[in-house]
Parts: sequence; structure tokens; C-alpha cells
Amino acid sequence: MSKIRDSWGSKIGIIMAVAGSAIGLGNFLRFPAKVAANGGGAFIIPYLIALFLVGIPLMWVEWALGRFGGGFGHGTAPGIFHNIWQKNRFIRYFGVIGIFGPLVIFIYYTFIESWTLGYSAFALFGKLAGINDQTTMQNFLRGYQGIQNNEFFHGLGWAYLFFLITFSLNILVIYHGIKGGIEKLCRWAMPLFFLCALMLMIRVLTLGTPDPSKPDWNISNGFGFLWNPDFSALLSAKVWLEATGQIFFTLSVGIGVILTYASYLKKNDDVVLSGLSAASTNEFAEVILGGSIVIPAAFVFFGPIDTQAIARSGTFNLGFVTMPLVLNKLPWPEILAFAWFFLLFLAAITSSVSIAQPAIAFLEDEFDINRKKAVGIFAVTTFILCQPAIFFLKNGVVDELDFWGGTVFLVIFGLIEILLFAWVFGMNNAWDEIHKGANMRIPKIYKFIIKYITPGFLIFIIGMWLWQEWIGIIMMKTVADTDKPYILATRIGLIFLFITIAFLVKIAWQRKQQQGVAP
Ligand code: ALA
Repeated sequence: MSKIRDSWGSKIGIIMAVAGSAIGLGNFLRFPAKVAANGGGAFIIPYLIALFLVGIPLMWVEWALGRFGGGFGHGTAPGIFHNIWQKNRFIRYFGVIGIFGPLVIFIYYTFIESWTLGYSAFALFGKLAGINDQTTMQNFLRGYQGIQNNEFFHGLGWAYLFFLITFSLNILVIYHGIKGGIEKLCRWAMPLFFLCALMLMIRVLTLGTPDPSKPDWNISNGFGFLWNPDFSALLSAKVWLEATGQIFFTLSVGIGVILTYASYLKKNDDVVLSGLSAASTNEFAEVILGGSIVIPAAFVFFGPIDTQAIARSGTFNLGFVTMPLVLNKLPWPEILAFAWFFLLFLAAITSSVSIAQPAIAFLEDEFDINRKKAVGIFAVTTFILCQPAIFFLKNGVVDELDFWGGTVFLVIFGLIEILLFAWVFGMNNAWDEIHKGANMRIPKIYKFIIKYITPGFLIFIIGMWLWQEWIGIIMMKTVADTDKPYILATRIGLIFLFITIAFLVKIAWQRKQQQGVAP
């Protein structure tokens, strides 16, 4: 490949960017909600097992695959998969998932990200400070989302304004490229994010027993709720599925993002230590910071039963409804609530820019389009695609997109990657590839884990899911009748999007063949 691809500026910049991609709304909204909804300590064991058997191995595999593909000028899965299995002409179509998945996530993620920006502004101007009960806060959120109070400038109007700002900020960052945009953003956003998170964590740790009439609702029991293990949960298939799904989402593995980020590495840049550092930073942010802020805070003010009930009532309720109420009970609620929502915004934007990158890289690498034009095409396309998520949120469109783009396809894509790398490329080659330029060696047991345990685990999870849920999901058994047309339309739209990307992959391939540069 003669074309010069974008590149990272420094090693620390790469780690910050990958950690920035991983640390996101998943850490501070999704994780606490999953933990609380699944009974606290019950969730942590499968979660940690999935981290060591699936998350960390896949992190290494994706870093190595991405760096390998980047060496051939490919930053997305269709080209990378083809490099791995050149004899198979069809394999590049499996790589379509690596562009489709992040595109689908981007469509709803930026909208939710924009709520965090909107809420930080509301917090700063004291709009949240007077709200002291859950129903009013819930109504405020529903009004903002346009679910309740649908008057344009009171409900969705504000949401749309903050969406436009958030969307434009994302486009601005990716327009400036890997080094000049994403890396620069992460270099200042990540330290600021950690500062906000530490400040909030210290505040929560010093909450003690806020209501003396309920001595059990104290901070150490709040931590006990999260950390006291419940081994009986190991028998629940649902908890395993949820825990594995969370590991994928939070580490940004199985999305296609790490493949693209790693494709900008140099041939002998370390991937072992970098992958591990990014994963550890994410886990610190998720389990230590995410786990120590929301759950104990909700626990001391609402107790174990209500905390669980609130989490079950919606993924965002703990973060958006409960946290402002908790913070309102403390001194300087405006500042604390601002810190909370701004922290969420920083976490989210460093993730959303990474989620945008595979589609941009695909256009740049496979169609030789320059960055500015690629970002323009991306901006127009995703702006249109975001609209159903915004206007039909109340009809379950966001949940549907999250289910396919943010859960199912992640696990399938992770399985394809690991099978290709460990079985087609060969485990010995894979092991050598991962260790090229490595600053440390991976314990040998991982050779066995990557080859047998991780794929076995994923096959088992997918199989179990198919067996338990497939028919119900296809037949929309849990969807309200009024929402069925919207869900059906979303599914048709997703199929159409997938076919369009597959078609683009075909055209890109034919172009390269005509130019005589097909890999
Ligand atoms: N990894 C990102 C998050 O946790 C997508 O939000």
C-alpha cells in the first residue's frame, strides 16, 4: 500500500484513546444497573470470569489483528479478515459486522451521550436541585426524552438542541483525525474524567449512615451489596449472558473499534502490555469508580430492595434518576450533579468518537477517499440514521438497536475473530503475532484459553441464548402491540443497512482488483 494512513502520536496517547473508547456510559450507567438488577454480588463472579476468559483474550486478539491488518493498509474487518484467510473469498462479508455494529451503536449512543451534556447544563443552572422525589425526577427525564410532555421546546426540543451540539462535537473531533482529533481529545478528557470521578467517589465514601433511623443503610453495607458473593447465581443462565454482554460492551471488544485503533500502530508496537493497560484502566473505572459511586450512593438513600427495583425499571434510571436525587441531599448539589453528568459526557464522547472510526477508516482505506470527505459522508449518513432513535425512543427503537448492535452482533463478531485468529491463522502464528514487539509475555495458559476456552465459552453463550430466547425475540413476544410496527421497521432498516455495507465491501473489492492492488 503506497497510501500513508493516519497514525498515533505517542504510546501513552494510544492507551488513553483505547481506554477512552472502553470507558463510557457502559461503565457508569450500564454496569451499576446490571449489578443492581442481578442481585449485586451475584453478578460479580460471572462478570470476573468473563473478563479473564473472554474480555482480556479478545482484547489481545483484536489489538494483534488490527495491527496485522494495518500493515496491509486495512483498518476494518472485511480487509483484515481477508488478510487472515486469503483463500476464502467469502470471509470478508463476515467482516461487515465490524462496520455495521459500531455504526448501529453510534446511532443511539450519541443521543444518550447528548442527554449527559443536557443534564450537566441543567445541573449547573440549578434545574435539577429542587427535585426531591423519584416520580418528579422520572417525569423530568421522560419529558426531556419526549416521552411524556411532548411540547417541542420543553421536552424533545432541548434534547434535540443538545443532540445537535453533541453530534457536531463528535464530527469535529473525528474530522481532525487520529492524532490531531481523537488522541488530543483523550489526552485532556481522560485526566479530567478521572478527577471528576475521584471527587465523586470520595464524597460517596464519606456518606456514612445518612438516615440514622435506618442504621443498616450504611456505606459499608452498600459495598457489601456489590461485593458479597452469591455462588447460587452461577446456575442462572441469564446472569451469565448479562455479565458476558457487559464485558464486551464495556471493553469495546467485538465492536470492531479496537481493530481500527490498532491498525494505526506500527509493526513492532507492543500490543500485550498496551491491551492489558487499557483493559485494566477500564476495569478500574468500571468496578472501582463506577461500582463505588452509583450503587453505594443509591443503597444508603434507598436501601437494597428499592435500589434493585429502580435498576430493573430501566438501565438509565440509577444514573439519571437516582444520582441527582442522592446528590441533592448533599451540600453543593449543583456542583456535584454537574460533575456527575459532565463525567458521563467525557466518558461518552471518548467512546463515541471511537465508534465512528471504523466506518470512516473503511471509506478511507477501501475507497481511497480522503478523511474530510469520508467524515462528510459519515456525518450526513449517521445524522439521518439517528433520527428514528431520537423520535421513536418511546417505541423501543433505542433498545432494539442496542440489542442487535450493542449485544448480539458483538458476541458473534468476537467469536468469528477468535476462530479466525486461533484456528485459521493458527494458534502458533497467532501467539507469535501477539508477541511481536511485546514488552511482556502473556502467561502460557492463555494459549489454551484463546484456542479452546474463549471460543467454547462464546459458542455456549450463543447456543444458550438461541435455545432460550430466539423464538420469543423473532416473534416480538415481549413487545407491546403499539410498538410492533416500529420494532419491525427498525429490523428491516438494520437488514437494509447490513446489505448496503456488504454491497460496499463488494464494490471496494472489485475496485481494488481492477487496480491490481487487491490483497
Ligand atoms: N465501551 C463503551 C462503553 O462502555 C462503548 O460505553
